[in-house]
Amino acid sequence: MDSLRIHGGVPLTGRITVSGAKNAALPLMAAGLATSGTLTLENVPRLVDTASMEALLANHGLDVVRDDLTLRIGGAASNLDAPYDLVRKMRASVLVLGPLLGRYGEARVSLPGGCAIGTRPVDLHIRAMQALGAVVELADGYIQARAPGGLTGGRVVFPNVSVGATENAMIAASLAKGTSELVNVAREPEIVDLAVCLNAMGARITGHGSDTIRIEGVDSLGDATHRVIPDRIEAGTWAIAAAITGGDLLIEGAYQRHLDALVDMLVETGASVDAVDDGLHVVANGRPQSVDITTDPFPGFPTDLQAQFMALMCVAEGSSRISETVFENRFMHVPELARMGADIQVDGGIALVRGQPSLTSAPVMATDLRASVSLVLAALATDGVSEVSRIYHLDRGYSDLETKLGSCGARLERIRSGHD
Ligand code: EPZ
Repeated sequence: MDSLRIHGGVPLTGRITVSGAKNAALPLMAAGLATSGTLTLENVPRLVDTASMEALLANHGLDVVRDDLTLRIGGAASNLDAPYDLVRKMRASVLVLGPLLGRYGEARVSLPGGCAIGTRPVDLHIRAMQALGAVVELADGYIQARAPGGLTGGRVVFPNVSVGATENAMIAASLAKGTSELVNVAREPEIVDLAVCLNAMGARITGHGSDTIRIEGVDSLGDATHRVIPDRIEAGTWAIAAAITGGDLLIEGAYQRHLDALVDMLVETGASVDAVDDGLHVVANGRPQSVDITTDPFPGFPTDLQAQFMALMCVAEGSSRISETVFENRFMHVPELARMGADIQVDGGIALVRGQPSLTSAPVMATDLRASVSLVLAALATDGVSEVSRIYHLDRGYSDLETKLGSCGARLERIRSGHD
C-alpha cells in the first residue's frame, strides 16, 4: 500500500486548482442509468470512486466512455443487479437504486455495508422508494425492489436529512407517474447540481436547495450535457491547508457560496478569506485562534471538513470544542493526530482539542478519506518529515493531490509499496 512522505514546515503560496466535485459526479453518473438518451458530463474528476461508478454502470450494460474529464453515458441496462463485489468498494453505489426503479421498475442492489465512519444504513433510501410505490424486500444481503407498473408520485417525508436518499428519491420521482413532494430533503450544492442536470434531461423539478422539492413525473428523460460543479470539500481542504501552514493561497474555481460556514469559521480563527474573480483567496495571520464547531447538513459546517478543521485546531491558541452530529464514528483521525503531539479528548460525539504551539512529525495511518487528508494537513504544519500510510483512502476523493500541493510549495512524495 502506497504512502506519502511529507517534509513539513513550508507555507503554501500561489495558486491551487479544484477539480469537479466527487459528491456531485457520483449521483450525476447514476442519473445516466435513468435516461433513454445520452448524458454527457464534463469536469468529472479522475478518482478511484468515479472509476468504481464507471465500472458499476458498465456492469449494468451501459456504454460509458471517458475522454479526459468528459464522460458519455448511454445505452440501456441489460442487467439490473448491483453486485456486492462492486457495491462494497463504494457505498455510493446505492445511488443506482432510484434510477433503475424509475426507468426499469426493478432493481437488485447489494446492501453497501458500513465503513470506518459509521454503519451507514440505507433505511431512508428504502422508505423513499416505498413511498413512491415500490415493493422492497431485503434478502441475501440485497435490496430487492420492484414497481411492475412503474413508480407513482407521492409524498416522501425524511425523518432526518440524508444526501443520498434525497438523490435517489429525486431521480426515481422524476420518472414516477404523477407529482411527488419530497419533504425535509438535503440542501447541499450537489443536490442542486443534480436537479439542474435532471431538468436539462427533461425532468420537472422545483424547490431544489430548499427543504422541500416538488417533482412532476415525466415518461422519459433524454439527452443532456452538464458540467459538474467544483468540489467544495476539496476547496475547503485547501483553504485549511493555507491556514495551517501560515500560507497565502488562491484556490481557483472555489465558490464562496458553497463554503460560507467554513469561511466564517476560518475568519474567526484570524485568517483572511476573500472571494475573488476566479476563486477564494486565503491568507493566514499567524497562529490560528481556537473556535468551536458543530457539523450539520448544508448550509451548516460540513462533516466532510471536520477532520481537516480539527487538524487546524490542534495548533490553535486555546481550546476548541468540535461536535460531530452527522456520523456516529467520525473521529478516527484523533489517535493519529495524537501521535503527532495533538491533545484531544473525545467523549461520544464531542472532541475537545487543546491547541499546541506545534505538532511533531510522525508515521501515521489513514483510515478514511477525510481523516487521511487531515493527517496530510497536520504533517504539512510540522517541521519534520512525516509518513502517511494507506493513502489509497486519499485517492478515492482527491485527484492529483501531490501535484496540486507541490505546485504551491509543499514538499511531498508518494512511496510506492508494490503490493496493495
Ligand atoms: C453523502 O453521504 C456524502 N457522500 C458523504 O461524503 C457526506 O459525508 C454525507 O453525504 C453527509 O454530507 C456522497 O455524496 C457520495 P447521508 P451519504 O445519507 O449520502 C444517516 C465523503 O467523505 N442515514 O446524508 O451516505 C447516515 O448514517 C463522504 O466524501 C440513515 O440513517 O450521507 C448519517 O448518519 C463521506 N439512513 C446521516 O444519515 C439512511 O438511509 C447522513 O447521511 C441514510 C443515511
